[in-house]
Amino acid sequence: MTQDRRRVSLTGIKPTGEPHLGNYIGAIRPALELTATYESIYFIADYHALTSIRDRAQFAAYTRSVAATWITLGLDPEQTTFYKQSDVPEIFELTWILSCVTGKGLMNRAHAYKAARDRNAESGAADLDAGVNMGLFNYPILMAVDILIMGSDVVPVGQDQVQHVEYAADIAGSFNHLFGSEYSLKIPTALIPAGTGARTMPGTDGRKMSKSYGNTIPLFAPPSRLRKLVRGIVSDSTPVEEPKDPDSSAAFQIYENFATPDDVKDMRVRLEQGGTGWGELKNALYETLEAWLTPLRARYDELVAPGSELDAILAAGAEKARDRARPVLAGARRAIGVDS
Ligand code: TRP
Repeated sequence: MTQDRRRVSLTGIKPTGEPHLGNYIGAIRPALELTATYESIYFIADYHALTSIRDRAQFAAYTRSVAATWITLGLDPEQTTFYKQSDVPEIFELTWILSCVTGKGLMNRAHAYKAARDRNAESGAADLDAGVNMGLFNYPILMAVDILIMGSDVVPVGQDQVQHVEYAADIAGSFNHLFGSEYSLKIPTALIPAGTGARTMPGTDGRKMSKSYGNTIPLFAPPSRLRKLVRGIVSDSTPVEEPKDPDSSAAFQIYENFATPDDVKDMRVRLEQGGTGWGELKNALYETLEAWLTPLRARYDELVAPGSELDAILAAGAEKARDRARPVLAGARRAIGVDS
């Protein structure tokens, strides 16, 4: 039997919207690249999305869409462990155990919770916790367990999630300090993928592409919608014949991520020289995206359909994940004394 001694990389994807181009460049592609170096564990963090989603049809649709997206874009379920968080009940038991070794003060300082309170303060709400449910408050503990229960070494995340990974390390440290003579949890570290484009990808309004800004270009939108969204990317009113600064253009920054280096260079020169309008750039961007997405869209449609092979992929992934989680939970139960 060959033993897999590679280090473990794990990341979770919260299904709160249709996967978009920014997700692909910022998260999905770098995570898929890591599968060459690490033993990789990727999961749909559906119970994390429950802190905000209230529409059951939408919840189900986003979850399926995210799962289908990862498989379509090249995740190999044989080579990686790929599952839905809600299919691994061990996570939720360990969440309780670790809640009991986590200081409330640590949670008070967590970014997402603090941001919610700041928003309430700004709007003059009498109760700074208005609209905050306990899922949002406990979110970092659940995320810590996602990480710790799989024995993760590294956690590829964006900058906004680094604090949560540090919390996971802190929480594991508390547990190990209190109970670690019997069984200890592995301490993880965050890994910020270098990324190909140094800049974050802008959305249609020029701000960072993000579902919270409503400026995303979904990966698997039908061609007509894709074209419309690309045509709608903000641009300034520099006339066609005048020289332009490509780096000021959201469409160009998106183009840079998807076109070949030669095509990008060529487009840069043409814009800088003048004579090429933003409309032409957008056409080129649309064509580039469409050429890449056409075959992928068919595969995605197949997977996202009810009853597709996605069900079996996720069921097998859940088994693999539970096989990993069980001994960690058992160790923790032993360590705290429930199973002795
Ligand atoms: N909190 C992450 C996000 O909002 C998603 C997530 C949940 C996650 N559990 C995780 C990421 C574990 C990395 C590891 O994007």
